[in-house]
Amino acid sequence: MELRTQKDSDIDNWKEVMLIYNSALKQISTKLEILNDEFQHVHRYNPIEHIKSRVKTSESIVKKLKKHGYESTIQNMVEHVNDIAGIRVICSFTSDIYRIAEMISNQSDIKVISVKDYFVNPKPSGYKSYHMLVTVPVYLSDRIVDTKVEIQIRTVAMDFWASLEHKINYKFEGNAPAYIKNELIECSKMASELDRRMLSLNEEIQMIHQRNE
Ligand code: GTP
Ligand code: MG
Repeated sequence: MELRTQKDSDIDNWKEVMLIYNSALKQISTKLEILNDEFQHVHRYNPIEHIKSRVKTSESIVKKLKKHGYESTIQNMVEHVNDIAGIRVICSFTSDIYRIAEMISNQSDIKVISVKDYFVNPKPSGYKSYHMLVTVPVYLSDRIVDTKVEIQIRTVAMDFWASLEHKINYKFEGNAPAYIKNELIECSKMASELDRRMLSLNEEIQMIHQRNE
């Protein structure tokens, strides 16, 4: 984010920055909704189940800056916290994930800063998701601000897994007993297997449908 904090007071700068992140989320949400609508129009099929977005709370921002050894300043948060604006896209099938990621990357006003494919390289926890850090231009009255948004794309099954794993980790403050961690890894494998079987079932259905057309 090319941020120039323009206001005299920190409160005003904070409000301005938050307005920009909220606007960036609206932009990305709208882009995703349009892609989903268009997909429905052309292929009679919705790749996106639902979308959740959030702006990180001031408490979490400060916690993250502290964790990485940075002073709590607006400049530091804009520079070093990449997930202030976060959007989660939940799809039915793994194939939809790459479809959506590609459609987003192809938009000329979006810059892809980095990609982490935890489907191909799952985390040791069992976490599987596709993360993109992008910037989107936010048009203000006097300037354009390229703003960072973290996009997480995953399947319904993996979203179910991630929300329970997150809750468990929160409860145990990251130190869950080994048997629970192992059980979570097993569940992650089951979710992947479910994703794989549902995808192949869906392909089967589509083939039958095409034959009958
Ligand atoms: P953070 O400091 O947590 O943001 O991690 P990072 O900067 O290394 O980025 P990464 O792409 O690994 O993770 C970003 C986000 O993905 C996290 O804030 C979580 O929302 C989610 N995430 C990553 N790993 C896990 C995991 O093991 N379990 C769950 N439930 N969510 C995860
Ligand atoms: Mg994060």
